[in-house]
Amino acid sequence: MKKYYAGLDLGGTFVKGGIVDEEGNILVKGKIPTGAERPYAAIAADMAQLVKDLAAQAGLQQEQIAAVGIGSPGLIDAENGTIVYSNNLRWENVPLCAAVRERLGLPVCITNDANAAALGESFCGAGKKYRSMVFITLGTGVGGGIILDGKLFEGYRSAGAEVGHMVIECGGWLCTCGRRGCFEAYASATGLIRRTREAMEAHPESAMWRLAGSLEKVDGKTAFDGMRAGDAAAARVVDEYISYLAEGVVNLVNIFRPEAVLLGGGVCAEGETLLAPLREKVFPHLFGGTEYAPCAIVKASLGNDAGLCGAARLAMGRE
Ligand code: BGC
Repeated sequence: MKKYYAGLDLGGTFVKGGIVDEEGNILVKGKIPTGAERPYAAIAADMAQLVKDLAAQAGLQQEQIAAVGIGSPGLIDAENGTIVYSNNLRWENVPLCAAVRERLGLPVCITNDANAAALGESFCGAGKKYRSMVFITLGTGVGGGIILDGKLFEGYRSAGAEVGHMVIECGGWLCTCGRRGCFEAYASATGLIRRTREAMEAHPESAMWRLAGSLEKVDGKTAFDGMRAGDAAAARVVDEYISYLAEGVVNLVNIFRPEAVLLGGGVCAEGETLLAPLREKVFPHLFGGTEYAPCAIVKASLGNDAGLCGAARLAMGRE
């Protein structure tokens, strides 16, 4: 009999979910607002309901779902199913798995959101052909998923692979984790938006004002759009952003020397506009050059589905 799994990707803004089969095909998917300011029990109830709704949409009985997997930002105690600490959800010691399990009566397991996305990409996305890869997600935060010799590397008690909290600028911008100069503060969409707004304030003549409408409406695309419109201030923002991104990528490649770095998250929608200059800034700085151990820098292929797909992959065998 065919087995089905539910994958849930918990984010600060949305919870995305899907029903996935053993081959990694997504039967149905959907998303609901997280409402992150609410108590976790309310969020867990919504997540359980999302699984029920998706199962119904797929024409399945709830009992036909073998297990549920969750990807969540932050430091995860996988054994106990708790979110130990999340800088972006502002949670500490939240027993999310138990809360979802109670409402569904199904096995529930959990990992970090970027780890889940890396699993998804290596299961059925662009990571499939690499035995070693570093996945980096550039969204509200910067997350990392490291696959070495085909296995997810999470560090002691799964507390590692927090690539976003590697300092790339000593004494630099304050990060949500409390340190200064983190990769995340610069390379996240949030960091890009901050820099874009600063540039707009310094340049009232910039085309970015016309493109965004106001400072509040600035998003991760504004500077890229400005650059395409020939705006010099916007081009500088993009160049600086890619330089910071390159610093982090070089460090990660020099430590892990993966076959590939996969980039996911909202900013990656820019595709080669981001990747081509990034390669130019990364390759000359790789330890020992690129001839002996080349490293590809590519866009992740599953987009918003990577997390839910990997969360479902995590659930496989957990029934
Ligand atoms: C968190 C990570 C998470 C990443 C992406 C970071 O701020 O520390 O745990 O993976 O954001 O959501």
